[in-house]
Amino acid sequence: MTAKTVPVDTFDLVIFGGTGDLALRKLLPGLFRRYADGQIPEDSRIIGVARDKLADADYRSKVGEALATVVRGEASLQSKLEPFLQKLGYHALDATLDTGWQAFAEELLTHGERIRVFYLSTSPGLFVDICTRLKAHGLNGGKSRVVIEKPIGKDSASAAVINDAVGSAFPESRIFRIDHYLGKETVQNLMALRFANILFEPLWNANYIDHVQITVAETVGLEKRATYYDGSGALRDMVQNHLLQLLCMVAMEPPAAMEADAVRDEKLKVLRSLRPISNDEAAQATVRGQYRAGASNGCAVPGYVEELAALQPGRTDSRTETFVALKAEVDNWRWAGVPFYLRTGKRLAERVSEIVVAFRHVPHSIFEHGAGPVMANKLVLRLQPDEGVKLWLMIKDPGPGGLRLQHVPLDMSFAEAFGVHQPEAYERLLMDVVRGNPTLFMRRDEVEAAWKWIDPILAAWETLREAPKPYTAGSWGPSAAVALIERDGRTWHEDEA
Ligand code: BG6
Repeated sequence: MTAKTVPVDTFDLVIFGGTGDLALRKLLPGLFRRYADGQIPEDSRIIGVARDKLADADYRSKVGEALATVVRGEASLQSKLEPFLQKLGYHALDATLDTGWQAFAEELLTHGERIRVFYLSTSPGLFVDICTRLKAHGLNGGKSRVVIEKPIGKDSASAAVINDAVGSAFPESRIFRIDHYLGKETVQNLMALRFANILFEPLWNANYIDHVQITVAETVGLEKRATYYDGSGALRDMVQNHLLQLLCMVAMEPPAAMEADAVRDEKLKVLRSLRPISNDEAAQATVRGQYRAGASNGCAVPGYVEELAALQPGRTDSRTETFVALKAEVDNWRWAGVPFYLRTGKRLAERVSEIVVAFRHVPHSIFEHGAGPVMANKLVLRLQPDEGVKLWLMIKDPGPGGLRLQHVPLDMSFAEAFGVHQPEAYERLLMDVVRGNPTLFMRRDEVEAAWKWIDPILAAWETLREAPKPYTAGSWGPSAAVALIERDGRTWHEDEA
């Protein structure tokens, strides 16, 4: 089966931070794939901007190297590489100085009014400078949009400062706050499953759902992001955005239409219904961890502090958490009493992101003891790897010899079922920006509501002043995370298949 591709209108896309890691690892490969699929019109332009003095040809060869791995994996892309590279231009600019901006604006404006996307793949410290200068040079006109990456602040106060600054140059309708988890195929499939089927919605509430688990486990460690990550930690880096967005997709009411504000209004209501975790509750309802030396994918790996010291000589300690588990509650009619257990961490046993909706047990079992236990149904949505959905059901063990029960998954692997390349989250989201569709992007009030729930947790941790609990790299996190869920008589989901 081939994926259907609808071409977008001609555009200019400017990537601030065009030589950075995100641009080279995600944005440009994503754009390349969209180009190879014929979605990007020929006269569109992609312009990298950074401080280094590079000629267009240097930039093209830098991007060409980054794309070599994509092409190596798929020979059919080879013939598209050179024409794609020819679309790329480069402009050296220092966002904090006025020099060069006039020439940059003139170059962009040569093509008259067309869609212009400014992707700020830079540190948030530069958002204000860039937006102010885009405005001063008339680059914030009707067809221009700006994309901002997290971290959008460190708490609600700093998020408001960033939002004010970006908002003074662009109206909210043209600010795209990206959370790449919303571009993942399974996350959108959750919308389809919930709202395009009659089957689940009648059961999607506290009467039939026992609890929900959201796990985003990574095997990577600190990578090269010492300054950012050590100042941030897993709660800010992953929970405030990705995990809370996933929680919203599970918990929200059906929007009236698949339209940006309808969807975002419903997500906002969920965020505002999250029960605040007080100072007193934080020790029981949250777990912070930090990895120690261990093994990852069969290789010995150092602990977090040693990795940090290698990047920041002289560092001997850090209290930054690389793991968080917590229990959240949504205080509304639909979800009263249904805990949402969230966990995420680096250097865990496996790279896996999934949402588990655990249904209640049947009210009464008619089967004899020998039939085996009647296990509760579970809906498991796997975001990565091997995107797909499994619905765990009880069936009769096939064959003669009495009635024994078995818990088996009704298994839909998207790759097997559809046999198409699953687009990377960024591919889809970038095309949504060009189309001007903000449904899968966060509105200002959502980001700020998420911070309002996170702020008291950060404050409680500050008050508790406990060091993060150690866990061995390659494990599933500190034992306290197991205790967190087991105290409630539940366990973290493990794939039985
Ligand atoms: C980013 C975080 O937003 O998401 C990283 O800053 C994390 O720390 C990454 O590694 C995970 O994304 P994915 O798509 O690989 O699950």
